[in-house]
Amino acid sequence: MAIEAWLMEENNEDQRLPHHKNPKEFVSMEQLAELGVLYWHLNPKDYENDMELQKIRETRGYNYMDLLDLCPEKVENYEVKLKNFYTEHIHGDEEIRYCLEGSGYFDVRDKEDRWIRIWIKEGDLIILPAGIYHRFTLDTSNYVKLMRLFVGEPVWTAYNRPQEDHPARKDYTKSFAMKIEAH
Ligand code: LAC
Ligand code: NI
Repeated sequence: MAIEAWLMEENNEDQRLPHHKNPKEFVSMEQLAELGVLYWHLNPKDYENDMELQKIRETRGYNYMDLLDLCPEKVENYEVKLKNFYTEHIHGDEEIRYCLEGSGYFDVRDKEDRWIRIWIKEGDLIILPAGIYHRFTLDTSNYVKLMRLFVGEPVWTAYNRPQEDHPARKDYTKSFAMKIEAH
């Protein structure tokens, strides 16, 4: 089963709505791979014993793991966090998220600086490369439980755009030959 992704219609509607273009313009896994975004579909019911997950973690060195249950009761400063997640940013490291319950949208910038909306549901594991501009929002289901993976001690620092001089951004644009435009 493949993940669904599409070019986003940018308007002032609620960020939790799908924001499809009319007509819809879907984006393939291959197009996402060209941006450095990787994807697996796993069995979320079995995450504690899943050998496939174990193998990904071993191969990529993801020794750190925690769970993020995105609901107001379980998250401190819930509203502030959600607002920060949806502010366009990069990280110095990969962002690895495995959806165990619920769903949500990761938006990433493509080479023409357009937003691609990636719909994450139960069983979807995605890796966003270091230095890619992105953001996250809940969808209308209003709930997601995510596993976060990391190599070593986790660093969640977000650097808001613009970050053209950040080393991770420079590496990213070099690796994926982005068209760089002034903003
Ligand atoms: C983030 C949340 C969704 O880092 O984990 O964007
Ligand atoms: Ni992020």
